[in-house]
Amino acid sequence: MRVIITKDYYELSREASVVISSLINKKPGCVLGLATGSTPLGLYRELVRLHKEEKLSFSSVKTFNLDEYYGLNPSHPQSYRHFMDTNLFRHIDIKPENTFVPEGNIKSEEAEEYCRGYEEEIKKNGGIDLQVLGIGGDGHIAFNEPGSSLGSRTRIVALDARTIADNARFFNKAEEVPRFALSMGVGTILEAREIILLAAGSNKAPILAQALEGPITSMVTASAIQFHPRVTVITDEEAACSLARYPYYKFIRDAEQKINTPLF
Ligand code: F6R
Repeated sequence: MRVIITKDYYELSREASVVISSLINKKPGCVLGLATGSTPLGLYRELVRLHKEEKLSFSSVKTFNLDEYYGLNPSHPQSYRHFMDTNLFRHIDIKPENTFVPEGNIKSEEAEEYCRGYEEEIKKNGGIDLQVLGIGGDGHIAFNEPGSSLGSRTRIVALDARTIADNARFFNKAEEVPRFALSMGVGTILEAREIILLAAGSNKAPILAQALEGPITSMVTASAIQFHPRVTVITDEEAACSLARYPYYKFIRDAEQKINTPLF
């Protein structure tokens, strides 16, 4: 696992944008897995800048989002579809029909079939080349809350009380945060060919250390990325400060620059 420690959030966002833009330059029709939340906002701003100022084109790129609140219409200001449209898709040349975000307003009796279809759509498009992840305060990736199977697939999940409290900042009050979501599973995420996990801010420090250096456990679903052969964790200094192997990650970063090869 590569762990890149950046001096601040701006640099973190830039590093992440370099991973994505290099992939697009190498494979213009690549399939990206995308996350929402506060952490990737800087990355999306940087991708918009690269599109506008450096002609990075998304015209053949396809995207699949990790999750969506269950019960929200795509037009709801807190829906993840709305988040992606306003923070990224509307500002780049991606084709709307190439952007997939789970639909939050399907009927519960259709959910199983719908989720199976979402996974089939990923496969039909050749699988996810690069998955972007954030990490929740409770260690979740997508909305795979503590206790989710490490083999889980796309499905309806119940949000943990911690996640509801954390995400209340986007709503008028905690009671408005949906209690359920549609989420890719841990098993779905691990099938991506490459993963980048982003973590920023001191409030993520303890859980990031558990996820990267603690045991692999369904109680911290982000720890499952330890199984994956091509993971790059990009973290700012604040989120990295509880990592026991901090000096080693810095050493590896210098070594990579010397031999000009990523060391996973
Ligand atoms: C969002 C998602 C979540 C977030 C996580 C961190 O699509 O999948 O797992 O990545 O909750 O959220 P922020 O970045 O707001 O701290």
